[in-house]
Amino acid sequence: MKRMYGLIAILVLFLTVAFFKEDQNKTKQTQIPEVGVLTLMHHPSLDEIYQGFLDGLKQKGYRDGKNIKIDYQNANNDQSNLQTMSTRLVDQRPNVLVGITTPAAQALANATTNIPIVLGAVTNPQTSGLVKNMAHPEANITGVSDAAPIKQQLQLIKEFMPNLQTLGVIYTSSDASAVSGFHEIEAECRKMHIKLKAFSIANSNDLNQVSEQMFRQIDAVIVPTDNTIAGAMQTLVKNGNAAGKPIFPAAANMVKQGGLATYSVNQYELGKLTADMTVDILHGKKVSSLPIKRIQKGQPVINLKQAKRLKIKVPESFLKQCEKQGVVYR
Ligand code: TRP
Repeated sequence: MKRMYGLIAILVLFLTVAFFKEDQNKTKQTQIPEVGVLTLMHHPSLDEIYQGFLDGLKQKGYRDGKNIKIDYQNANNDQSNLQTMSTRLVDQRPNVLVGITTPAAQALANATTNIPIVLGAVTNPQTSGLVKNMAHPEANITGVSDAAPIKQQLQLIKEFMPNLQTLGVIYTSSDASAVSGFHEIEAECRKMHIKLKAFSIANSNDLNQVSEQMFRQIDAVIVPTDNTIAGAMQTLVKNGNAAGKPIFPAAANMVKQGGLATYSVNQYELGKLTADMTVDILHGKKVSSLPIKRIQKGQPVINLKQAKRLKIKVPESFLKQCEKQGVVYR
């Protein structure tokens, strides 16, 4: 009997210790803020945005695994992945969610109306149905827009190609961000009296054939912030080079991959802004007090190898700008 009491006492002691330990773990876990990140896919610009985001958090003192828990999910350009991943992220009840790209942000927005969502580089939060009031976000969503300086880009095309007859534009019809970019390009071209011919693809499988046909009908091509095309630039560049026609894409990384030139919003800085807003919310700021942020100024970017290959003369003043405050790919 005595032995039995002894055993029970030990058991009780053991359970008590286990219980307290478990409890401590729990409070520890809830003390570390959790951030769920969802991105549509890998392409160089999105990867740069995410790097800027991580570095931005670090600069504010947050290191993943130490004093913040970051759950990064990449949907590999698959709509059903976006849905399952956003549900899973929301189920974990993180403090903040971050949606990199329009489709990822839309999937998160469909999954929760109360966890704060920070948009990491959504071209047009308004037309993609995410935020109504960009100055005073009305719900659980705010963040950063990566809208490209399209007017500046079109002026640049005119400078490179004073004899331009027809400008082509190619975009993915299922990508809300590409469509909003396309509409803006269309409107600006009308104002600037540039003759524009539009070509759309349903997905990357179309890009080879559609762009091949396109390059026969135009003198140069502009590409909006289109995730599908950004992820398949080699195909577009191959056909452009075969036709000897230049591509003026939305972002610097697309110039690096074989575009000719552009004014690009700095993708790394977009990621840092996204981190700043995430930290603001972690520190208790209300979503409604954080207006949508945007980088207005485009950085000049040139690919000199492409200029040489296409035998296109780079305007002297633009090259100087690139060397001084932009990017030169050689
Ligand atoms: N703006 C895109 C979207 O809303 C995402 C994006 C960010 C992007 N940077 C880019 C797309 C550069 C193409 C190229 O989905």
